[in-house]
Amino acid sequence: MLDVIIGLQWGDEGKGKVVDVLTEGYDIIARFQGGPNAGHTLKIGDTEYVLHLIPSGIFRQGTFNVIGSGVVFDPVVFGQEMNNIEKIVPDAHERIFISKRAHLILPTHRLLDAAQEKAKGKSKIGSTLRGIGPTYTDKISRGGLRIGDLLLKDFDKRLKDKIEQHKRILDFYDFHDYDLDSLLSSWLEAVESVRDMHIINSEYFINKALDRGARVMAEGAQGTLLDIDFGTYPYVTSSSTVASGACIGLGVPSNRVNNVIGIFKAYTTRVGNGPFPTELNDRTGEMLRRQGSEYGATTGRPRRTGWLDLVALRYAVMINGVTELIMTKADVLDGFDTVRVGVRYEIDGQETEEFPFSLDQVHPIYKNIKGWKDKISQVDACGQLPEEFKEYVKFIEQYIGKEITGISVGARRREFLYCG
Ligand code: GDP
Ligand code: IMO
Ligand code: MG
Repeated sequence: MLDVIIGLQWGDEGKGKVVDVLTEGYDIIARFQGGPNAGHTLKIGDTEYVLHLIPSGIFRQGTFNVIGSGVVFDPVVFGQEMNNIEKIVPDAHERIFISKRAHLILPTHRLLDAAQEKAKGKSKIGSTLRGIGPTYTDKISRGGLRIGDLLLKDFDKRLKDKIEQHKRILDFYDFHDYDLDSLLSSWLEAVESVRDMHIINSEYFINKALDRGARVMAEGAQGTLLDIDFGTYPYVTSSSTVASGACIGLGVPSNRVNNVIGIFKAYTTRVGNGPFPTELNDRTGEMLRRQGSEYGATTGRPRRTGWLDLVALRYAVMINGVTELIMTKADVLDGFDTVRVGVRYEIDGQETEEFPFSLDQVHPIYKNIKGWKDKISQVDACGQLPEEFKEYVKFIEQYIGKEITGISVGARRREFLYCG
């Protein structure tokens, strides 16, 4: 059985927390796309852990955690993450499996990311500068280096050639402010530890496990509106963040997908540039940022905030074929007099409920819903939720045409209500 967990907005929906909650029911957790641009936060007791490359199942004993073929892998970030995790999960090394087909992020990919963003000036994407775009560019143009290449005799030569090619591109961008020797020596040191990990043909590993009846969860990174094809292009990431990306990124046929679990925040956030129709550039937006601690888990940047956008959410549910909906950070809306949700877009005087090709000229039309005064974070059963909040949930369910089966009411594991 393969279930896929997907972010339905612009990332940071609380996927890490939800994966950690749901992992109890799974044997294997697998990342299938993205790389260290992801920042998935798990709060265990009072300690917060941010995972970038290691799947969010690692804190549950007995799980296997796979870094799948569709991921772009930075050995340096991985090494730092392992150092932190091994302090509290001593057997982490034994439970992490890395696909031979995953592409390597080289130090020069990160430099190229910086150079390209600089060259874009005002229209920069606001990337995480983790080298994601340039690594996927090399993959698609058939020039990338993969984890499996680390095991080949001529790896050093291939690496040298690639780095030389990247240096020429950096020269083209007139980008010279870097110390490549030092970057390369840390990278090569980190690579040595990666060679000691379980490096596998993950497509066989996962398909054979499924044949044996294992329960596998594919953990999405980023979110649907950052998808390379269906997101707010060009302000997107460079991978397929949608549910079908799990099949490509793990080598699993689409008819093996069982549930698609879509995660959305009770409001909306976005980091980086690009359109955001329901954005609030006012005190309400600041209140959401403050109450929701909306600062990037990877870059620390303040996240842009706004109301829930149901036009975008219903689009994301359609693209992913969501079978289960989970709402997170519901507690952050505690205390607002009125909560608003975007229900239609107005474009050039015309109203639509469809997510358009371009969001540039979009004005959202809102529905106002009465807020609630009780603290949702202190509720421990769905039945005890405030009536006004139940109305909020009901309105969303009716609009989307799907039940919300789980509600996260705090960052900790136990702050999660199974509803429906
Ligand atoms: P991800 O990238 O989708 O895994 O999400 P992030 O970890 O980047 O951002 C979500 C943030 O919200 C993290 O700081 C989580 O600890 C926190 N969080 C997750 N669920 C909840 C929730 O239900 N309520 C509150 N208040 N915080 C939450
Ligand atoms: P998680 O998995 C939120 C955004 C960046 C930028 C754009 C492209 O934690 O939800 P990239 O570095 O991928 O080339 O940046 O995508 N972005 C994210 N925003 N959460 C993420 O991951 C993100 N990963 C990338 O801010 O706008
Ligand atoms: Mg995140």
